[in-house]
Amino acid sequence: MSLRACDSIKPIIWKDEQLYLLDQRILPQEQAYIAFNNVQAVAQAITDMVVRGAPAIGITAAYGIVIAARKRFDERADSWKTAIEEDLSLLAQSRPTAVNLFWAIELMRAAIKDMDVSDPAGALLTIARQVHEDDIAANVKMGQFGADLIKEPCAVLTHCNAGALATGGYGTALGVIRHAFAEHKVKLVYADETRPWLQGARLTAWEMVQEDIPVSLLVEGAAAHMIKTSQTTDNPIRWIIVGSDRIAANGDVANKIGTYALAVMAKYHGVQFMVVAPTSTIDMNISSGDQIPIEERSDSEVLACSGQPVAAPGALARNPAFDVTPAVLVDAIVTEKGVVLKPGLEKMKALMTNVD
Ligand code: MRU
Repeated sequence: MSLRACDSIKPIIWKDEQLYLLDQRILPQEQAYIAFNNVQAVAQAITDMVVRGAPAIGITAAYGIVIAARKRFDERADSWKTAIEEDLSLLAQSRPTAVNLFWAIELMRAAIKDMDVSDPAGALLTIARQVHEDDIAANVKMGQFGADLIKEPCAVLTHCNAGALATGGYGTALGVIRHAFAEHKVKLVYADETRPWLQGARLTAWEMVQEDIPVSLLVEGAAAHMIKTSQTTDNPIRWIIVGSDRIAANGDVANKIGTYALAVMAKYHGVQFMVVAPTSTIDMNISSGDQIPIEERSDSEVLACSGQPVAAPGALARNPAFDVTPAVLVDAIVTEKGVVLKPGLEKMKALMTNVD
């Protein structure tokens, strides 16, 4: 893999027997890592958004299980496999929507079940590292597949942060954008600021600026206007490109709140809608997006902005963190196993049974 500017963005590092997470709550103003030595703190860090983004949450959980195994095995080598179940369920409760979390926990659970070694933490670390490396490799592949769908130079619009920070590295939606920019097919990236956590303004813009990819921020309410009015300019928005937290068997897509609105706008204006996600984001156990659990976070995140109260005292607020875009509004789902155009159950089944 060639050296890319984004290779220096590392949200998750395992070093000297410890897990380090880049604290995404304070980016881009501060770049600071937090070290983790116990699984309870890892689960809390996922809930608190120190680390976020579906693939990054899954990788973090895998490393968290290494930490848990080390402690449980040291305490009781004869019953650690039973004791670690408590840690696995703690991690599973940290955030409900991104299926990559549950995918990683199940992978580690299956490995633990069959394990008969003197150093289980070491054996689990090998698996966690593989999960991490595979995610980066999948993103690079998706970058190529997604860029191939973009046929002419244009502007694109993205939402939230589906970049190196949200994954093991390189990014899903931003991986496609990186690749297409290198091929001179993306000239400008519009990034929704993404209230209330401002992942677009703080994280996506930070990633793009570091690579000199032109990025222009939008408040979410500006997206429809920009999609419409850009069509008659030199930089028309031709694609909306997003990541996903969970894709149902019928191709319905859960992603950051506001994604569904973008898909409706795209359809109305004849703009194409691309979802970029590894197969670890696909949940074939649920038939439609109606069954995807949608995380509802604290109202305080909406009533305040960066900790400063903004709402009228006494106002209520709702804070759903994700929404579901019906498959009928999706033009392409890009995975490391290939691209599904106009997704539906049969095409998703064919993708998931496709052996590498
Ligand atoms: O609440 P977040 O920041 O974890 O939400 C992240 C998103 O919705 C991303 O778009 C999604 O996880 C895809 S990341 C490659």
